[in-house]
Amino acid sequence: MKISFVSPVLPKTGVLVLLVAEGKGLEGLAADADQRTGAQITRAMAAAKFTGKRDTTLDLVAPGGGWTRIVLFGLGAPASLRPLDLEMLGGAAAGVITAIKADRVAIAASLELGGLAPRESSALIASGVRLRVYSFNRYKSKKPEAMPLKEVSILSTDARGARQRFAAFDAVADGVHLARDLVNEPPNHLHPVEFAERMRPLAKLGVKISIMTPAQMKRLGMNALLGVAQGSAHEARMVVMEWKGGKASERPVAFIGKGVTFDTGGISIKPAGGMEDMKGDMGGAACVAGLMMALAKRKAKVNAVGAIGIVENMPDGKAQRPGDVVTSMSGQTIAVLNTDAEGRLVLADVLWYVQDRFKPRFMVDLATLTGAILVALGKEHAGLFSNNDELSQRLSDAGYATGEKVWRMPLATEYDRMIDHDVADVKNIGGRHAGSITAAQFLQRFVNSVPWAHLDVAGTAMDAGRTAINQSWGSGWGVRLLDRLVAQHYEK
Ligand code: BES
Ligand code: MN
Ligand code: ZN
Repeated sequence: MKISFVSPVLPKTGVLVLLVAEGKGLEGLAADADQRTGAQITRAMAAAKFTGKRDTTLDLVAPGGGWTRIVLFGLGAPASLRPLDLEMLGGAAAGVITAIKADRVAIAASLELGGLAPRESSALIASGVRLRVYSFNRYKSKKPEAMPLKEVSILSTDARGARQRFAAFDAVADGVHLARDLVNEPPNHLHPVEFAERMRPLAKLGVKISIMTPAQMKRLGMNALLGVAQGSAHEARMVVMEWKGGKASERPVAFIGKGVTFDTGGISIKPAGGMEDMKGDMGGAACVAGLMMALAKRKAKVNAVGAIGIVENMPDGKAQRPGDVVTSMSGQTIAVLNTDAEGRLVLADVLWYVQDRFKPRFMVDLATLTGAILVALGKEHAGLFSNNDELSQRLSDAGYATGEKVWRMPLATEYDRMIDHDVADVKNIGGRHAGSITAAQFLQRFVNSVPWAHLDVAGTAMDAGRTAINQSWGSGWGVRLLDRLVAQHYEK
């Protein structure tokens, strides 16, 4: 599918999408179109009692004027639209367009929307279209009929400006689609070695890719991560991705992802029901991969490090046992009381490695870490835990702006005491209560006072609520959030 920006002149044929402000009648291009159809749009609106209320649509088939279809979208009050609403609008339009199997469509976006410059509003609508138009059918033997949608043209009063502005949104959408692909992949295909190999092409975009093998990680002392992998037939990998778009002297920002390509629970095995969903237990790592792609493709003026720990958690004769004690790269010893609390073991070593090796300005980790975060927050918000109020506020704001919302949860020494152990320095479970918090407390023991935020994305990275801009099981959650965080505060 191609997205183009053209001057605000109505095409003669095809499918037309018109935006209608509430209670103001038809204006601009919509008024022109109405005239060409001999006031068919006005009659249809009256018959259907369509007033332009927000989130309402009206689909006119064979309306005359040369068009096969005219689809009206209600805007409510155009001045009150947020940028996110415009992306959602583009997504909703793309949903209708694909449902009616249109091959060519023009979206008339020449109204003033949300008090934004036309280049911005047009690019936002296009961004919504790109995010929505996604499918994952690699494993269908009969390919569903090729996407009929060939071209979406956005009619804009600043087509040139919009085209330029859209390039960055396009880069971010590519990153989101990469993250979705990785999460949707079946676990026999996307095992740790394969995941790491899939990162290599990012080198073509200027991202430096280093792939660490078990032998190299052993030398670094990453026994917490390696312990999780030891029951798997697939070797563990750590991938470090570096994007250097900022000044050479500038310390990097860092993103760390949990990449468990399948989580059986290990010897503390999970129940069978729904276990297939644990192919998505690498959603944090997928987000980091997508983010690095987005930053590189839009040539972000920042130095950024992405580091992902990739393992498969399997039960086996060689698997680690409940009760094992491992020595992490930090030197701290960990009693592994439940092999299903594996994500924190992986992150412990990757977090330690990143703060030690890169001295970053901050670290944000993403992990499908606990079922408990779904109990607390459902799928509406990811859990946010942080040792830094400024970073925390910036993430909350970026979450509100992108719709990838986060909700801050507490950290405190009282919770930290729940993971002390009598034999080892720390244990990997904290008891029945506050499961997401004790998991975060565990991670905090490996961040060494660097400004840090942990995002528990168990409820949002996979099988999250479908929206106008995402209909995929693997949501790609977090790419837009973190891209926004970087763009707003860490570039220049
Ligand atoms: N990957 C799971 C968490 C998870 C659950 C992600 C549901 C997505 C959906 C994690 O490794 C896990 O098993 N956590 C345990 C921790 C417990 C053993 C302390 C959990 O949440 O039950
Ligand atoms: Mn687990
Ligand atoms: Zn897990």
